[in-house]
Amino acid sequence: MRPGRQSDLRAGLLNPKAYKKAVGRFATGVTVVTTHLDDDHFAITISSFTSVSLDPVQVLVCVEKTTRFHPAVLAAGQWAVSVLAVGQEDVSRWFATRGRSADPDQFAGFAHHAGALTGAVLFDEALTQLECRTVAAYDGGDHAIILGEVIGVDTSVDAGAESREPLVYFEGGYRRLGGPSTPRPEF
Ligand SMILES: Cc1cc2nc3c(=O)[nH]c(=O)nc-3n(C[C@H](O)[C@H](O)[C@H](O)COP(=O)(O)O)c2cc1C
Repeated sequence: MRPGRQSDLRAGLLNPKAYKKAVGRFATGVTVVTTHLDDDHFAITISSFTSVSLDPVQVLVCVEKTTRFHPAVLAAGQWAVSVLAVGQEDVSRWFATRGRSADPDQFAGFAHHAGALTGAVLFDEALTQLECRTVAAYDGGDHAIILGEVIGVDTSVDAGAESREPLVYFEGGYRRLGGPSTPRPEF
């Protein structure tokens, strides 16, 4: 084996930097997840969004326990997911900024509305908008794994063709899809 090629997790030799580099090569989309407790609204940039089950329809997000979002989403029990388009990098950056304002003006400058089912904020130009109700929360080390039943979806955004491209996160930076897609297989 080439030196430095592999870190041995079992021996406790895993360097956190090596781990981050490794998992950073898993390209993801980017979402902003929101919730509210009465008039207090919370939002967080999340790339750990995953579709889990079709029947029932369930998704999950992993939320770091030290975030302001963590206690809020657990208490609220419902949340909304906006899947960001390529033109929404500014939205992603803002809601990933620790210590930013948590006042209602945190959403100023980003076209948004309240989800009809949860009242949580959804971003008008997001590619996909989902509203969810928490069905379980699991311990995941320094994160909580929050499983939600999807109670509403909206894919009707009709912005320009460019805005229908997803924002991609890869190796610690924002990307866009590079080329034409391969034909979709039947399944
Ligand atoms: C592209 C990207 C993806 C992120 N994904 C997650 C994630 O999946 N889970 C998480 O807890 N934090 C994630 N973060 C970090 C949070 O967005 C960040 O800690 C945020 O400031 C927390 O806000 P809060 O403390 O106001 O709740 C991500 C940040 C970026 C830039």
